[in-house]
Amino acid sequence: MVVAVDYRNALLDEYHIKFCQLIERNTSPQTHSAQAELRGMLKSLTKRLTHQVEDINPEQAPRKMLRFCDQYELFLLDREPYDHSLLPHDHGRAWGMACVISGALKETTYQQVDSTLVPDSQCVYTPGDVVLLHEGLIHVDSNPTPQRSVSLNLFVPCIVGMKVYVQQEKRVYVVKPGSRPLSPQIEDVVEWQGL
Ligand SMILES: [Fe+2]
Repeated sequence: MVVAVDYRNALLDEYHIKFCQLIERNTSPQTHSAQAELRGMLKSLTKRLTHQVEDINPEQAPRKMLRFCDQYELFLLDREPYDHSLLPHDHGRAWGMACVISGALKETTYQQVDSTLVPDSQCVYTPGDVVLLHEGLIHVDSNPTPQRSVSLNLFVPCIVGMKVYVQQEKRVYVVKPGSRPLSPQIEDVVEWQGL
């Protein structure tokens, strides 16, 4: 087990250098080529981490942070079977991507039309697929299957100012970094505005 943890840390150190070099090389890292390069890196990291999947399971925690630095954050998300608990949300000023490790991930995107969120697209992703999450995207990710769904998620820069859309209340909540996009608890809320 120690060997597995050492291997994982060495792997994360190796990719930390690659991620930082790519981000520093690109003053605007959300370009098509930078996105494609980062996508390739995330896929290859996922493939190499998958060999350690028993060890990297987030256990009881739905979100396990692997790296958090000035340039990016990298974390595992573990969704329970048939988990549809998340609300529509964006990722503040960050953009990113998620690579499915196991199970399936269903993503629904939304457009805001006046004070209503209108579903825009829906897609189910399976292991090895990468979901691109551009800056400003409003979406929900859920698990439509009886198996757990685990993905490796990368955001550039770290997620600050995430907005959670609560349509029944016609409100948008800006939540603290690290909050999950669930119905916001008062301690998670930085500010709120009308939808
Ligand atoms: Fe998200």
